[in-house]
Amino acid sequence: MDVKKIVAQMTLEEKAGLCSGKDSWHLKSVERLGIPAVMVSDGPHGLRKQDIGRGDHVGMNDSIVAVCYPTAAGLASSFDRELLTRVGETLGEECQAENVSVILGPGANIKRSPLCGRNFEYFSEDPYLSGEMAAAHIRGVQSKHVGTSLKHFCLNNQETRRMAVDARVDERTMREIYLASFEGAVKGGKPWTVMCSYNKINGIYGSENKKTLTDILRDEWGFDGYTMTDWGAVNDHVQGIIAGLELEMPASGERTDRLVVEAVKNGALDEKILDQAVERILTIVYRYLENRDPKATFDREKHHQIAREIAADTIVLLKNENNLLPLSPEKKIAFIGAYAQKPRFQGSGSSHINASKLLGALEAAAEYAEITYAQGFQDETDTTDPALLKEAVETARAADIAVLFVGLPGTFESEGYDRTHMRLPRCQDELVEAVAAVNPNTVVVLHNGSPVEMPWADRVSAILEAYLGGQAVGGGEADVLFGKVNPSAKLAETFPYQLEDNPSFLNFPGDGDVVEYKEGIYVGYRYYDKKKMPVRFPFGFGLSYTTFAYTNLKLSKNHLQQGETLAVSVDITNTGNIKGKEIVQLYVQSTHEGISRPAKELKGFEKVALEPGETKTVRFELTPRAFAYYEVKLNDWYVEGGSYDILIGASSQDIRLKESLEIAAGTPIPFEVTADTLIKDLIQLPGANEILDDLIREVEKRFQSADEEGGLGDAGSEMLKNIIIGMPLHGVRSWTDDTLTEERLQRIIQTFNQQK
Ligand code: GLC
Repeated sequence: MDVKKIVAQMTLEEKAGLCSGKDSWHLKSVERLGIPAVMVSDGPHGLRKQDIGRGDHVGMNDSIVAVCYPTAAGLASSFDRELLTRVGETLGEECQAENVSVILGPGANIKRSPLCGRNFEYFSEDPYLSGEMAAAHIRGVQSKHVGTSLKHFCLNNQETRRMAVDARVDERTMREIYLASFEGAVKGGKPWTVMCSYNKINGIYGSENKKTLTDILRDEWGFDGYTMTDWGAVNDHVQGIIAGLELEMPASGERTDRLVVEAVKNGALDEKILDQAVERILTIVYRYLENRDPKATFDREKHHQIAREIAADTIVLLKNENNLLPLSPEKKIAFIGAYAQKPRFQGSGSSHINASKLLGALEAAAEYAEITYAQGFQDETDTTDPALLKEAVETARAADIAVLFVGLPGTFESEGYDRTHMRLPRCQDELVEAVAAVNPNTVVVLHNGSPVEMPWADRVSAILEAYLGGQAVGGGEADVLFGKVNPSAKLAETFPYQLEDNPSFLNFPGDGDVVEYKEGIYVGYRYYDKKKMPVRFPFGFGLSYTTFAYTNLKLSKNHLQQGETLAVSVDITNTGNIKGKEIVQLYVQSTHEGISRPAKELKGFEKVALEPGETKTVRFELTPRAFAYYEVKLNDWYVEGGSYDILIGASSQDIRLKESLEIAAGTPIPFEVTADTLIKDLIQLPGANEILDDLIREVEKRFQSADEEGGLGDAGSEMLKNIIIGMPLHGVRSWTDDTLTEERLQRIIQTFNQQK
């Protein structure tokens, strides 16, 4: 479709109208020109399509019956790009069948704190993993000619005061952590649309932030779709369009349409900018319409089965003492906990799906074994019901193995507000302790959207993290518990022992409408590993019913020039007697004296399926970006020359192999020489000796005479050297009598700056 031609035929009012929704879920139509009203709907892990007139953006009103998949927290634990793409494909099929042009998601915000109410809807604390998962999801959906809306761009890392809070982050942290997740998604997935966040970003609303919406998203990353607001995120629609925000959602009752028309008429808004916004929107509208399959249908039962397979691959085996799991059907097995029957399987808010069915573990396990059951606790409450507890303990005592199904109630974590602690309900912690006290073979299965404290972890034999595993979560759990599926997921976020250990603890959720990300780049394992702080379960950790050996790590080179790519390979062997999948993680560690950096950073991961005894070679390709940090003086990524280690790990704290390499020095980072510049920085510059001529020797002479008089104590030449090179140019004057005249000082400064 020649979109420019269409726009040229549109009136100013029609163009202004198209930049704001028709209702909660539709864009406006332009009947006169045959442009239909297309629909967008939530996501991200199921289709929440609402009937006309009953739309809301927080999941209050009903939506159509749909298939609910595991939420992002669990999906990311798969570390499986193909799995994410598969979920995307099924969602794309459902959107085609329901005539939805864009599904709102995935959410790629970084998990800064375990308390964020929407962590269930986000992938990781690590930007590389988060970006890769989001990109894979986007590719899946869009392969069905349906768009996605990567969200919430950006720095929406809390629910507290989300529509007004100003997220204040330094540039390097923003680039390396909070933008990097979106960068990976945009470059790897090419989303048709991006949804801005509610909050301010360093003082400017996400809905009118030119730096994020245009300078970074479009000019640097090449985004070519349209941007939309989060629902009700508009502050000033005209400023938003100028900044690069094309579509206001939901409808504003044409109030903002009139403001846009006025702005064009009074010159506040260049009509060419408006035309560009309309072109961007129509490009995506027609990309959908021209590939629409009006006969599309999908098989809901088939998708339910897919949801079950996917759920199994998102379950993380965190503990399995004495190989208690998988369960043997001959044993007397008790399932205890309300979530065995009616599991928590999704989050609350705009992502809440009207699930076509719900399969709990109790129902699913019936195909494997006879199971006794006790409810154990009332959902959505903190208080223990003595009768339920007593019944549960008796049931556990009578069984060989007691499997507990516990987790966070829906009111404990949700869109719209954050948690205030990391604990499970008291009644559930009590239940776990009471059952473990009477049955040494106690297994805990968790249903939570983000980390919880586990005071009982040392007193149970096995722990499975099922996250919010979608409508078929119980089937996935039964398949893993009884060994039909060998668990292969690993944590995409750290589980700290206690909330206070988390690096954002002192600055979350901030005070009033300001939150400062004072922990900087030290988010998640970047912090815990740097501090060598023990955690309950580390990033990247997960067990299997089999074992794997890591051998034969090879680098294509041990000396890299700037700009060169490094090839890495490693062999993985299944050393057990059942088939399994292993997530191989590659971390980069800077081992030279340089800018402050995390102890290690994830720069590659691959999931490999292996039969017993099978060995496969896993390969990685590291571009210079894998070694770079963001240099704010350059406004660009920069690779320091020096030594690095390539770490291959089964988790961030279980490094199996390591190889070192050197990277040649890059162009020094230019800086303006002034009287405040330190000697140690000057002597790194080309020609320093000539320019400084004998200035340093004059200083050394003065200090040596002081030394001869015993003035330096036993510090010796090391201290002398460090004191001298630690001086700023202007400080040298104190040690050179009056030979360093102002004229000579300025000449030195000028000579350095002229040669830059
Ligand atoms: C909500 C959410 C966003 C959702 C949108 C539409 O407020 O923040 O994720 O897609 O509005 O429901």
